[in-house]
Amino acid sequence: MSESTGPRPALDLEAFPPSFAWGTATSAYQIEGAVAEDGRAPSIWDTFSRVPGAIDNGDHGDTACDHYHRWPEDIALMKELGTDTYRLSVAWPRVVPGGDGPVNKAGLDFYDRLVDGLLDAGITPSVTLYHWDLPQALQDRGGWTVRETAEHLAAYTTAVAERLGDRVTRWATLNEPLCSGWIGHLEGRMAPGLTDLTAAVRASYHLLLGHGLATRALRAAAPGARIGLVTNHSTVASASDRPEDLAAAVRMDGHTNRWWLDPVHGRGFPADMRELYGVDLPERPGDLDLIAAPLDWHGLNYYFPVTVADDPEGPVPYAREVRVPDVPRSGMDWQIDAGGLEALLLRLTEDYGVRELYVTENGSAFPDTVGPDGAVHDPERTGYLEEHLAACARAVRKGVPLAGYYAWSLLDNFEWAYGYDKRFGLVHVDYATQRRTVKTSGRRYADIIRAHREATAG
Ligand code: FCB
Repeated sequence: MSESTGPRPALDLEAFPPSFAWGTATSAYQIEGAVAEDGRAPSIWDTFSRVPGAIDNGDHGDTACDHYHRWPEDIALMKELGTDTYRLSVAWPRVVPGGDGPVNKAGLDFYDRLVDGLLDAGITPSVTLYHWDLPQALQDRGGWTVRETAEHLAAYTTAVAERLGDRVTRWATLNEPLCSGWIGHLEGRMAPGLTDLTAAVRASYHLLLGHGLATRALRAAAPGARIGLVTNHSTVASASDRPEDLAAAVRMDGHTNRWWLDPVHGRGFPADMRELYGVDLPERPGDLDLIAAPLDWHGLNYYFPVTVADDPEGPVPYAREVRVPDVPRSGMDWQIDAGGLEALLLRLTEDYGVRELYVTENGSAFPDTVGPDGAVHDPERTGYLEEHLAACARAVRKGVPLAGYYAWSLLDNFEWAYGYDKRFGLVHVDYATQRRTVKTSGRRYADIIRAHREATAG
């Protein structure tokens, strides 16, 4: 890489083991485009992005980064960055377009080529099976509110694992079930766009059951698989010392963190939250054991902390987010606090006993532009990256078994309800020409990766 990023504050790179995996992450609907090619059927995001007002600027993923056709170029970018690993998701509506039933060979062929391309480039694929793009056909039959969807996830998982399991060893079942469950079914800001507590709680249950069933399917179809779940979390602070606000913070922590982690780590669904939601879980004997099936690793997605106050009249969990003044914020208006990443890594290790961790997503959006010099200078993203890597290094020094870090994202891409305006990439994408330009942050990431290799070589 020719451009030097100049002197920087020292990062404690020696904290990371020599085997530490440096990666970037994306997801299928956000980058692939080609939504009607080779037998792909619509997903809930194709549908949701056609709902007037659902997505900023009326954007949708029809073309996105055209990764479906440009993947060799994108692998070349990964090589340029020097990353070891790449986290991608497989689109269920490409592989099993009807949601259940026949497998679409052409859909699997795409991922087969992609995986081979990555391996040829010396990049380890980390495959997520479900990053929110449920086949619309299943939504039409109840989506995640019905148990069958969890069973269909397992059948689709088997099809993917039978095809890729001889070469892919790092697998995740779901990405951020919180977003599918709460944002998709309770807040209505993501597909399928519902605002229904009963539907949301049932969906949350079936998502976690789906994780358990998919884990079992992976173990059967790909015996060498190392399997994890990817969840997103925030540290939760109380806006004041008032007992009401402190209690609100406990509720928000339950909603955001414990509801998703406790059952997966064998503690069942938290009793306080069950009572708060007041929705019967569609439990059957044996489900909890499936949901708590032993995993090989856990993936943490971290972006921001939250601060809450009591809000008895507001929506579940009756905790209103409070805007903290005078703190750094990203272009998403999310508070920037690298300490939250360190705290969550420690919590997963010390409280939940996780023995292998990855940061599976972390990053920031800023309104980047290509300058007259043809470069994209993004010092704020570079700062975010460095601060969060420093937090990872501190966590490792404190005993966190962190095995890798995936920057979100390799490319600018379709940022869900925000459309294309929010740019998270280490690589800039000009959507009119599909031209990719490595940003200064990407060059810095490449320097860090190289420096870590040098520091730990031998
Ligand atoms: C996460 C999603 C990912 C991306 C980032 C910014 O919640 O998993 O797809 O949109 O946020």
